[in-house]
Amino acid sequence: MKRIVIFASGSGSNAENIIKYFQNSNIATVTHVLSNNEHAKVFDRCERLNIDASLFDKENFVKEDTILNFLQVEADIIILAGFLWRIPAKIVTAFPNNIINIHPALLPKYGGKGMYGMNVHKAVKENNETETGITIHYVNENYDEGAIIYQTKTNVLSSDSADDIANKIHMLEQEHFPKIIENVILENV
Ligand code: GAR
Repeated sequence: MKRIVIFASGSGSNAENIIKYFQNSNIATVTHVLSNNEHAKVFDRCERLNIDASLFDKENFVKEDTILNFLQVEADIIILAGFLWRIPAKIVTAFPNNIINIHPALLPKYGGKGMYGMNVHKAVKENNETETGITIHYVNENYDEGAIIYQTKTNVLSSDSADDIANKIHMLEQEHFPKIIENVILENV
């Protein structure tokens, strides 16, 4: 059974969806959620779902080896589900092709520092894009630049608000992210 550790900074709707998906799996299970944000709603979700969740800070993550050591003992695969800090090189190196991120746009468009959540959808709207989508990719040391595993698109209507775009993206994320994680795990068993 592969152990999945999820990093999340905010609401945690993807984290919850992944936790639930793997509750019925015999290949993987979510064992822990880590967050850098003490106010993150993902903590409430984990409490409700009875999943261990811990708060950490930049010292633990970047300067000390607290998180690296934890992951080396506790994780087979790491999922970034709305996690907003860059992953330090030492963690990327320790988990080659074993850290997966979801980005709410069609990378390489609308990626990089500052491009997260609603910022992405507002930019898509402002640029009058006719399509957007999700990108699931491996994580390297640069924001949103690792090898792409999967992308899928949705149309953007001129009448769509940034919130409408966010809803379309949310639906794609809920449908595809757990399945793609499962495929990656199955390919590496
Ligand atoms: C998701 O849409 C995810 O793709 C995005 O943050 C949202 C988190 O929602 N991630 C990024 O923007 C990363 N650059 P959630 O907390 O409800 O899962």
